[in-house]
Order: sequence, then C-alpha cells, then structure tokens
Amino acid sequence: MLLTLDDFEPAARRRLPRPLFGYVSGAAETGAARQDNRAALDAWRLVPKVLAGVEGRSVAQNLMGKTYTAPFGIAPMGLSALMARDGDRVLARAAGAAGLPFVLSGSSLTRMEDVRDANPDAWFQAYLPGEEDRIRALIARAREAGFGTLVLTADTAVVANRENNLRAGFSTPLRVTPRLLWDFAIKPRWVLGTFVPTLARGMPHFENSDAIRGAPIISKQAMRDFGRKDHLSWDHLALMRDLWPGKLVLKGVIAPDDVGRARALGCDGVVLSNHGGRQLDHAISPLRILPEARAQAGDMALLVDGGIRRGTDVIKALALGADMVLVGRPLLYAATLGGQEMATRAIDILKTEIHRNLGLLGLRSLSEVGPDILHRV
Ligand SMILES: Cc1cc2nc3c(=O)[nH]c(=O)nc-3n(C[C@H](O)[C@H](O)[C@H](O)COP(=O)(O)O)c2cc1C
Repeated sequence: MLLTLDDFEPAARRRLPRPLFGYVSGAAETGAARQDNRAALDAWRLVPKVLAGVEGRSVAQNLMGKTYTAPFGIAPMGLSALMARDGDRVLARAAGAAGLPFVLSGSSLTRMEDVRDANPDAWFQAYLPGEEDRIRALIARAREAGFGTLVLTADTAVVANRENNLRAGFSTPLRVTPRLLWDFAIKPRWVLGTFVPTLARGMPHFENSDAIRGAPIISKQAMRDFGRKDHLSWDHLALMRDLWPGKLVLKGVIAPDDVGRARALGCDGVVLSNHGGRQLDHAISPLRILPEARAQAGDMALLVDGGIRRGTDVIKALALGADMVLVGRPLLYAATLGGQEMATRAIDILKTEIHRNLGLLGLRSLSEVGPDILHRV
C-alpha cells in the first residue's frame, strides 16, 4: 500500500532495473551523508499546543514573490525521463497542477523549452563549467525559453565517488553490457512501459547541459560534455547575476559563510543541500546548520533538502529557519510507478500530512511555525 512517501521506494525497486534503481536510491561512498539527513531530522521532537482553534488552517507559503499551496517543491533530478516515461514533463505537470515549485535538472533528457511548455512556472537548474562563453550561451537559452528562476548547482566541482553505481552496473555514459541487457530484460513492465516508448522517440540525449543539444546517454562524449566544473568560482556566479534578470538561486550550499556570500552577491535564494548524500560523503546534513544559515540569509529565500519524507520533517525544517524544502527520490519513484497520477498522489500525501500535523501542533499557518515547537533529543 502506498500510504506515505517511504512506501514508494520498495515499489520502485520492484519496477526498475537494478542499475537504475541503484542510481536513484544511491549515495556516495559509505552513505554517511545520506544517513545524516535522516538522523538530523530524527533528532528533533515536537511540542504541540492544545485548544488552539485550528479550523481553517493553511499550509500555503510565499517564496520569492509567489504563493505556493504548500512549503515543498520537487528537487532537480537528472535522467528522470529514463526512470519514468516522459519523467521530466510528468513531474513538471504534477507540480504545476498542485501549485508547487518544480526544478528541471541540467542533466535532464527533455528539452528545457518543452518542459517550460508543460509548466510555465518551472525553474531551471544549470550545471555550468567555469567557462564564460558556455555560461553566457546557456543563460541566453534559458532566458529565451522563458524561465523565471535559474538555479546553479555548485556542489559538483568534481565527480562524486558512487561505488554503488559501479557495483550495480550503472554508469554515465550508460555502458551496454550483457549484464545491463539482462537487468533490463527481467523488468518487463519498465521495458515496455518506459524504455521502449522512450527509445521510439529516439535515443535520449542530455538536452540541457549546454546551449546546444548534448551527447546521447550511451556516448563516451557524455562525461566530457559537462566541461570544466572544477573551474567554477564566485566570479562566475557574479557573472550569472549580471546576465540573469530573473530569480537566481544557488544550490548545494552547506557552509553558513557561503550563504552570506550568495546573499551579498545578489542571489534571491539558496538551497542548503548535501545533494541527497550523493556528492561528498560525510557532508553534514544541512538541517544541522540551518539556524546559522538563516542568520546569514537575512530575508533571502532559504530552501533545504535531503531526506524529507514526512509532514513532520517539513515542519521541522521550517521551524529551524527554512522557507521551503525540496523533495527528491520519492517523487521520482512515484513517477516511475504511475506517471503524473502517481506523482500527484505522492504530493497529496505529503501535503495532507503537513496540514494534519500543523493542526495537531495547535497552529493555523506556517508563519506560526518557529523554534518553540522543537525539542532536541
Ligand atoms: C536520481 C537523482 C538525480 C539527481 N540529479 C540532480 C541534478 O541533476 N541536479 C541537482 O542539483 N541535484 C540533483 N540531485 C539531488 C537532488 O536535487 C536533491 O538535492 C536530493 O535528491 C534531495 O534529497 P532526497 O532525495 O533525499 O529528497 C539528484 C538526486 C537524485 C536522487
């Protein structure tokens, strides 16, 4: 039964070929960073108030000049359209219909222009190399496509060590081996429901890593295409601020000083994130430094992600200073299982939990959520 977000993972494990499930669920090296995301959330207990009159409560939240129906959005996830049929647009539409933010990954397989058509409020997340001409060209394309919010993910200066991918037979570019074919063959529902219809439209390419179409997912070129990300610096972010007239958000920040730096540079928001534990292993859960980050952020928008699975998790993050959270893996699992309808179901589950928990806390709106509802265990 799919009753809460954690229920989507075992169901997706049964649906997806092992290497693909491993890519989504996996983390870097020992998995300590991913575990810390949960541990940091579980370290807090809630202190409810009674007899507060909680009828007519609302979980709507304002962020960067827009009102969303709940304080969560869909995190950018690369290769979504390989896991779920038309995955990028499915998630974009589900978020749009629910009145929530959706962030299109820079490692996605659907043209950004087509995703923007599916959801005019979608945000675009760029992976940029420290190369000025490529930065200019990709920003020009995102502007032309009509995006209002640009996210730069900055925690991928070098390629992470995801041993689990190698063990499970997943790589970028995807290497077609007898084992991969076997792993695919024993998951006929995914092959017939996702893979065949996807291939029927042509070999998937990295569509949005540059101003021009990138390499196909099985090409050796695929890795090189991502360019010199280890050159990326604050000067490039300043350049982006000059070039981008819309909202600019920096994602993958952990250190509070970096939050202050992003704000001084004119960013509109920051996503505190250890990339779901997928980049630097043992990176601290951003939740643990949220109050310091809030102090640095001032009135700049502050988002956080990693391990958020329950309404109570969302409320804890807000109580510690976040304006909004992003949710990754469970929503992609939902899309793999049943497209937009299932993604919408997962969204509704989380929204309902937040609404219920707010009432049980004795609160009527998210503006009443503060550190006084938390107790550290
Ligand atoms: C399959 C997968 C692909 C991801 N791809 C990207 C990406 O392209 N860009 C990015 O900024 N973050 C990416 N992330 C990180 C997510 O945006 C987010 O930070 C993380 O998944 C949140 O943790 P959660 O999955 O525990 O909710 C990816 C995460 C997953 C699981």
